[in-house]
Amino acid sequence: MDLFDAIAGRTSIRRFKDRPVPDGDIRKIIDAGRLAPSANNTQPWSFLVIKDKALLAAMARAVREQVDRMVPYAEDDRQAQRLTAYKGTYYTFFEKAPVVIAVFMEGYDAGTDKLLARMGYSADDIRRLRPLPGLQSVAAAIEHMLLACHALGYGSCWMTGPLVAQEAFEKLLGYGKEKFIAALLPVGVPDEDPQARPRKGLDEIMRIKA
Ligand SMILES: Cc1cc2nc3c(=O)[nH]c(=O)nc-3n(C[C@H](O)[C@H](O)[C@H](O)COP(=O)(O)O)c2cc1C
Repeated sequence: MDLFDAIAGRTSIRRFKDRPVPDGDIRKIIDAGRLAPSANNTQPWSFLVIKDKALLAAMARAVREQVDRMVPYAEDDRQAQRLTAYKGTYYTFFEKAPVVIAVFMEGYDAGTDKLLARMGYSADDIRRLRPLPGLQSVAAAIEHMLLACHALGYGSCWMTGPLVAQEAFEKLLGYGKEKFIAALLPVGVPDEDPQARPRKGLDEIMRIKA
């Protein structure tokens, strides 16, 4: 598949056919992530492939329980209703995918940030000067993987919503504070063909200083 066709043709897929994804294809998808650029070539990522249905159900349950704890803090009824709706789909549909790839961020040593801190820059200033190079690197890997899924005929969706339950995921998946999940990527054969979502026009977002 031509790269520009893959970029234009990818959409987030949230419904999957009940068909397994062969391990060889999962390896190809993660290999596409592995080849992404990263800050100082630190490659601050690792990937956990989750196929265990009971584990995925437990993760989704943890998300629903956390959303229930969040709802009383909603600013207004609208936000509370939106959260409740997300609980049913937007945050938890990953449990119905045949495979979920948990993308971890780990091992990024922000030496430059520490140096700036010693110079007296606040954490907020540093985030503005150098917005999260480690996380930008992981994001590049995730986008490579989404495009690889699409090129192989699979659907996926970049999910950060479920991470409201990151603390529960730490216990369920057995990891500590040395790393965290940056996104979940459910992968499967699409069982929907959604319309492309609208984008801002190029002239609205692009400027040239000649
Ligand atoms: C950082 C990030 C987090 C996202 N989190 C979720 C999520 O938790 N649940 C979900 O259903 N979609 C999630 N999405 C998908 C977006 O809703 C989707 O990319 C956007 O609406 C554009 O649609 P498209 O991907 O079909 O082009 C996320 C996307 C990004 C980039």
